[in-house]
Amino acid sequence: MDLVWLFCHDKFKILVLMICGSQNNSHLKSQNLKIFGQGKLNGTVPISGAKNSALVLLAASLLTNETIILENIPCLTDIEKMRNILNDIGVNLADKNNRLEIDSKNIFIKQLPFELVNGLRASFFCIGALLTKFGEAKVPLPGGCNIGSRPIDEHINGLQALGAEIIIEEGIVKAKIKGNKKKLNGTQIKLKCPSVGATETLIMAATLAEGRTTIENAAREPEIQDLCIMLSKMGAKIYGSGNEKIIIDGVNKLGGCTHKVIPDRIEAGTFLIAAAATSSSITVSPVIPHHLEAVTNKLQESGSKITIKGNSITIKGKEIKGVDIHTAPFPGFPTDLQAPFTALMTIANGESEITETIFEDRMNHIHLLNKMGASIKLNKNIAYIKGVEKIKGMDLVGSDLRSSAALIIAGIIAKGNSKIYGLEHLDRGYENFESKLKNLGIKITREFGNKILIEEKYEVNSEPNQVTRIEAA
Ligand code: EPZ
Repeated sequence: MDLVWLFCHDKFKILVLMICGSQNNSHLKSQNLKIFGQGKLNGTVPISGAKNSALVLLAASLLTNETIILENIPCLTDIEKMRNILNDIGVNLADKNNRLEIDSKNIFIKQLPFELVNGLRASFFCIGALLTKFGEAKVPLPGGCNIGSRPIDEHINGLQALGAEIIIEEGIVKAKIKGNKKKLNGTQIKLKCPSVGATETLIMAATLAEGRTTIENAAREPEIQDLCIMLSKMGAKIYGSGNEKIIIDGVNKLGGCTHKVIPDRIEAGTFLIAAAATSSSITVSPVIPHHLEAVTNKLQESGSKITIKGNSITIKGKEIKGVDIHTAPFPGFPTDLQAPFTALMTIANGESEITETIFEDRMNHIHLLNKMGASIKLNKNIAYIKGVEKIKGMDLVGSDLRSSAALIIAGIIAKGNSKIYGLEHLDRGYENFESKLKNLGIKITREFGNKILIEEKYEVNSEPNQVTRIEAA
């Protein structure tokens, strides 16, 4: 296990220790965030680059032999994992004062490392870039995770439609271009569901294919739009990104470019929800306001005052009315903010109904919030919440990235102190989370203990409700 000391220079914290050799973050399991409850937030919080954009942009850098410079890359364990995966196949990545220079000219084709890919679903998205650039790719199956089975059939079907021959052997997806062709063939693809990752995989694969590819029922997330902007800078011919039909005309080669990662709308939404939950007033910046429209609309509906000025959003939390949310593909309410919003609704005046339509097992925070005194009935993936006066601080373990954020919001709301474990999840997706909260006035510290809190797996109803998928608004 080799230690990679990653220095995340920011004004609050100098060093984040990440043990990256075996991708083992077990040291994080014994850490917790101690939170003194009933906190208030005040001030402006800097929003980092978007995790879910940076990860796919790193994968896209495989499409060129020229240098890609990525700015505003967040300092997260998921990013570190992706860097290690690219490093493992010969990509040279150099930090240059908060910019990442990526040079893939000396890449060698080999299977992506099993244990690294297994811990990072986004690394599977490299398959499209590797296949279209080199004619072959061997990528381990990404596996499921705590929020669902996370299938890849849309990725596979789309690549096969583009002319790939794919076999899955011993957990490895082996893809190569059929026959003795050098290029994939542009074609028409209609996704069965607007999968973000599949849309990204297939866009990357189509950039160097022969002819035109159309992707229908494509996902419209801002991170996909950010990918298309960077690919266009590299010389790709892409039309309609952000719509449900995307057209890609294959080109012979892609060049280098410099690209700045968009702000993380999920991080920004998490802070806005925390402010609403504590009747606080904060500003999040930089953001792209329309990326958060579904979230700010719901916060306004529940009683907060929202002001948008340029690339910043200011929220003034007031009373909290119970409101219903249905998660949906962009521009609907993002599934990644379902858990944090549920934490907010635990102390709302009145009732609310939270329906998770994207992932089958993304309600792992519900029983933990009930332990804190919330009043939530769960029927498969629908949570029926009766707002309570107060919830009480507890020691709890987050089971995935966004439920950990929800527990931290609950800890800030709660009467009394809480210790939230599961930081191996939290550090995947929130950069300097506790220092940003501390700077907003929350009493929160990271404790490096030696005990690991174990939370028994809570069995929700066996077969999750097949909630009808809500078409994006
Ligand atoms: C991306 O995951 C994000 N991750 C997720 O963020 C996000 O929650 C999700 O999109 C939805 O917005 C990254 O971008 C790295 P999907 P992805 O494919 O691409 C089904 C976070 O917390 N599906 O859009 O894996 C799937 O089962 C993470 O930051 C298939 O059926 O999500 C799910 O029900 C969590 N077949 C739905 O589509 C497939 O081949 C949406 O999944 C692929 C997906």
